[in-house]
Amino acid sequence: MALTFDLKATDGAARLGEVGTARGVVRTPAFMPVGTAGTVKGMLPGQVRGTGADIVLGNTYHLMLRPGAERVARLGGLHRFSGWEGPILTDSGGFQVMSLAGLRKITEEGVRFASHVDGTRHFLSPERSMEIQALLGSDIAMCFDECPALPAGRDRIAASMEMSMRWAARSREAFGHPGDRALFGIQQGGLEEDLRRESAERLREIGFEGYAVGGLAVGEGQEAMFGVLDHAPAQLPANRPRYLMGVGKPDDVVGAVKRGIDMMDCVLPTRSGRTGQGWTARGMVNLRNARHRDDPRPLEEGCPCPACAGGYSRAFLHHVVRSKEMIGGMLLTWHNLTYYGRLMAAMRGAIGAGRFADWERGFHARRAEGDL
Ligand code: GUN
Ligand code: ZN
Repeated sequence: MALTFDLKATDGAARLGEVGTARGVVRTPAFMPVGTAGTVKGMLPGQVRGTGADIVLGNTYHLMLRPGAERVARLGGLHRFSGWEGPILTDSGGFQVMSLAGLRKITEEGVRFASHVDGTRHFLSPERSMEIQALLGSDIAMCFDECPALPAGRDRIAASMEMSMRWAARSREAFGHPGDRALFGIQQGGLEEDLRRESAERLREIGFEGYAVGGLAVGEGQEAMFGVLDHAPAQLPANRPRYLMGVGKPDDVVGAVKRGIDMMDCVLPTRSGRTGQGWTARGMVNLRNARHRDDPRPLEEGCPCPACAGGYSRAFLHHVVRSKEMIGGMLLTWHNLTYYGRLMAAMRGAIGAGRFADWERGFHARRAEGDL
């Protein structure tokens, strides 16, 4: 089996487990730091690993444009090229084309688009996306899919979901069943429960090593997203990992785990770190704010990251963020990934102990107190 899933405990809908890949184990619920272009910005692989991350995400779209999938393959694959030796999941490119590329034309065959880097023309299809992900050598590849931004009409969502399901079948066919790499299907269907169910059924018929919930966190808001997550995970096979794509803020992550999600990814801890936002148990702290100018305290008491345990004050973080010193983005990225790593570890502990509801109450209580 290219990928194993060992479900160790459940607490309500929340699940504790382990995903086994050719390059190691992923403890779930897992948060995957985003290394879009083969690097988690500002962090070395060993430092990312040290925050508790078992797996990172890379992007077909970015890597095919720069430096090119064939080049990465010649240089030994994405693990060798990037220095991250653990499991890597790659997204398939369709979603990024929609959000980043210039001119684009979608047909049944695939998507033609202009690169956001230099305007050159490219083509992605289920077959080419599977080929690129094989060249990169990711441990988990994603089906090539498409999803409309929300709100969108039901007809548009249904037609898009149906094409994504035909693309899922083509993705499976092109990917085959290599012994050491896994393929995940992606459920679509917007906010419509019946379309989500139909999508899940189509994916189950095709058969995947894991199943993602796609098409969320695209403008619908948390309440609507949780509404979908109240039924979507249960529509997917219980004995396979469930991955919620592109989510989210800490309270989104907690709400998703509570509803049965095993894996997530988001640029939030890394991207917002680079703009001066620090995420803590008491919510988001904007280090650009002048109230930190003379504050000798660490960003978060008890945090083991180099920004907090390393003796840096909020005043220093404020200074380096304001003066655009590289170390500012590096320290806040490090802190934020450490916070997410500790958040996931705390949830795994709570699920294992059958105390998730208690733990969740504490999580919300600390946030309600705010940064003191
Ligand atoms: N990232 C966030 N949402 C999605 C989605 O629906 N599909 C893909 N491929 N990637 C995503
Ligand atoms: Zn810290």
